[in-house]
Amino acid sequence: MNNITVAIAADHAGYGLKEELKKYVSDLGYDILDCGTNSQESVDYPDFGKAVADSIIGGRAERGVLVCGTGIGISISANRYQGIRAAVCHDVTTARYAREHNDANVIALGARIIGTSVAKDCLNVFLSTPFENNERHLKRIMKLD
Ligand code: RB5
Repeated sequence: MNNITVAIAADHAGYGLKEELKKYVSDLGYDILDCGTNSQESVDYPDFGKAVADSIIGGRAERGVLVCGTGIGISISANRYQGIRAAVCHDVTTARYAREHNDANVIALGARIIGTSVAKDCLNVFLSTPFENNERHLKRIMKLD
């Protein structure tokens, strides 16, 4: 265990991938906070983007993972909340820059866009890459809020 809690949520389109990623993240040594959904029954992605955003803003999790069909709707939803920086990532390069330049605290993945192996690689890079904590990036991030 590394004392970092990862909140994870998906809509119906992302439910299957979420379940696979939960096990993967847990095996990496993180604690998991599962914010749903818990089946393939149709739901609305904004409810799940909000659930992960609330977990981070409320201090119950340090990082978030969101999965929907494309990663887009659920990331738009999470980004409505102050302090949340959710990045849709399709490969390890976007995942790495999302951390290094944007200090993203949430990764959004598209279950209908990328496969399970790519999603796991993105997540591994996202969770292990530090923010390049310098004035240039900090100034820009502060303007977001
Ligand atoms: C659900 O059909 C789909 O619209 C949703 O998962 C997501 O892709 C929206 O951005």
